[in-house]
Amino acid sequence: MCGIVVYGRRGGSGAPALVLEGLKKLEYRGYDSWGIAALDRKGRISVMRRVGKIGGANAAAVSRRLGSGSVAMGHTRWATHGGISERNAHPHLDCTGRIAVVHNGIIENYQELKSGLLARKHRFSSETDTEILAHYIEEGMSRGQSFQQATRSIAKRLSGRSAFVALDSKSGQVIAVRLGAPLIVGIGKGGELFVSSDINGFLEHTNKVMYIDDNQMALLSFGKRAARLPAFFNVSTGARVRKRIVAIDWKRSDEGKSGYDHFLIKEIMEQKHTIAQAINQDDATVRRAANRIRNAFGVFIVGAGTAGRACVAGEYLFSNIAKKHVNSAVASEFGHYKHYLTKRTLMIAVSQSGETVDLLDAIDVAKSKGSRILSLINVFGSTMMRVSDDFFMLNAGAEKAVASTKATTAQLSLLTLLAYATAGRLKEGKRLLLNTAEQVNDMLNPRYEERIRRLAKRLRSQRDIFVIGRGVNYPMAEEAAIKLQETSYIHAHGFAGGELKHGPLALIGKGSPCIALVANDGSKREMISNAMEVKARGGYIIGVAPENNEVFDYWLRVPDAGEASPIVNIIPVQILAYHLAVMRGINPDYPRNLAKSVTVK
Ligand code: G6P
Repeated sequence: MCGIVVYGRRGGSGAPALVLEGLKKLEYRGYDSWGIAALDRKGRISVMRRVGKIGGANAAAVSRRLGSGSVAMGHTRWATHGGISERNAHPHLDCTGRIAVVHNGIIENYQELKSGLLARKHRFSSETDTEILAHYIEEGMSRGQSFQQATRSIAKRLSGRSAFVALDSKSGQVIAVRLGAPLIVGIGKGGELFVSSDINGFLEHTNKVMYIDDNQMALLSFGKRAARLPAFFNVSTGARVRKRIVAIDWKRSDEGKSGYDHFLIKEIMEQKHTIAQAINQDDATVRRAANRIRNAFGVFIVGAGTAGRACVAGEYLFSNIAKKHVNSAVASEFGHYKHYLTKRTLMIAVSQSGETVDLLDAIDVAKSKGSRILSLINVFGSTMMRVSDDFFMLNAGAEKAVASTKATTAQLSLLTLLAYATAGRLKEGKRLLLNTAEQVNDMLNPRYEERIRRLAKRLRSQRDIFVIGRGVNYPMAEEAAIKLQETSYIHAHGFAGGELKHGPLALIGKGSPCIALVANDGSKREMISNAMEVKARGGYIIGVAPENNEVFDYWLRVPDAGEASPIVNIIPVQILAYHLAVMRGINPDYPRNLAKSVTVK
């Protein structure tokens, strides 16, 4: 949540435009407002802030307003403290205008820190927690501390996970501080330096990075005493830390919309390839991971949001395929399991971004008990990749739309593959998934999409949509509801078919739409009975199933994919969610109030 990009080069030019370009790549991290601060040739800071998405910002307008200096830093915001307004957009300045800061995360003790500043008559221009950083640095320096000392002093006092960058206009120095939220330094050509919340902010210019670890800060100098490389320090002790330059071997996938109107539909269609890509793993590595799963005493699959639904599906997959009991847990609740974790526990952490703070916290809990971490992630070089003992890449390519689609089916594919490998049937699992990938390729044709579009037309004015599933399709019903909510803003509710009679049936009336996710497995008969129960109360049944059934008012055919049914069953709902959003005039890529990478608690 919130994206940070900094660019600098002593004697260089064009910094504001480069920062703008980087921020546009990070827009998925937050998009309610944005801002850039740039150092001009006279060593003064100019700031530009705007409400709305940065995607539409024009480089020429930014350069006109901020000039073409050699150092700039910017921020794309997902509001936490203070409403969405120009004055709350970052960067923020101190009372004198010498220091500028951008920040990601939350300063949990900011009220107490702010009250001290107010008592000492600092003037605040925003309601953010961020602004206190600029004032504390100002105060430290007015007491004779260096920029570095003053920044470290306030960094030491912050509680909560965050990351911030401060710019001192006098010295031309930039300090990037990492306190639990991601921040990475990029080393470009000819003395160019970058800082970004993730590598996407500068990967176009360099793949050479220096990682800032937690509780560390990087000092970048662009002034008179400019250094080619940043210097790193421990925040608590101030001691110098040695770092290596690491080359990230990660090819940029096509990041444009490739002719589609939105990222969401492009990414849905990419599932023609991404399922096969996800399982394109080294067999020996898969078998090793399967061995660890088999021999672990306690396995937990943990994730947040949509990834969390894939984890619950994983619990069923391991049970059905490998007869292995694994526990699934929602990342934000994982702390409650800490008493059951030991050195023999294995945690499988599932995440698209590899940066979700609740999951990183869960990993910390598991590591504190000596448990081993195996991650399934989509972003190379992410924090989770670095803190895990082992990892698999999802190979889905950049996922830009906030609503996850191709990363979800990649997660499901990889979990299915691991379940098969754990059962000692890796080859069979591979065959099934490759076959499923082909079936999905056939399914995603224009006629199919048109059929779903027609359904969206019918449903566009509904207030509620219900989704039911059983077995491994129960978490998929929940996931379907998430997709519908976040894209169309229609209230959707997903639950296990068997739970209907314990409450939700009371909400069913004439024409209530209910999507039934049906698999050709042992749950089929009961699912059909559940659909009947809804229909008997006037419900309108949309069957997502390999075969038609008289109970369905509208049938969306899916291939009979056996154990891979969650993969094929979720795809039509993704398409439905997309078309509902478009028909309701909502931008499906950027749902209100949400962000793709959730780095606050
Ligand atoms: C946000 C995204 C979801 C995602 C969840 C977890 O809510 O919108 O699509 O499932 O975060 O993110 P992760 O990157 O850990 O998969």
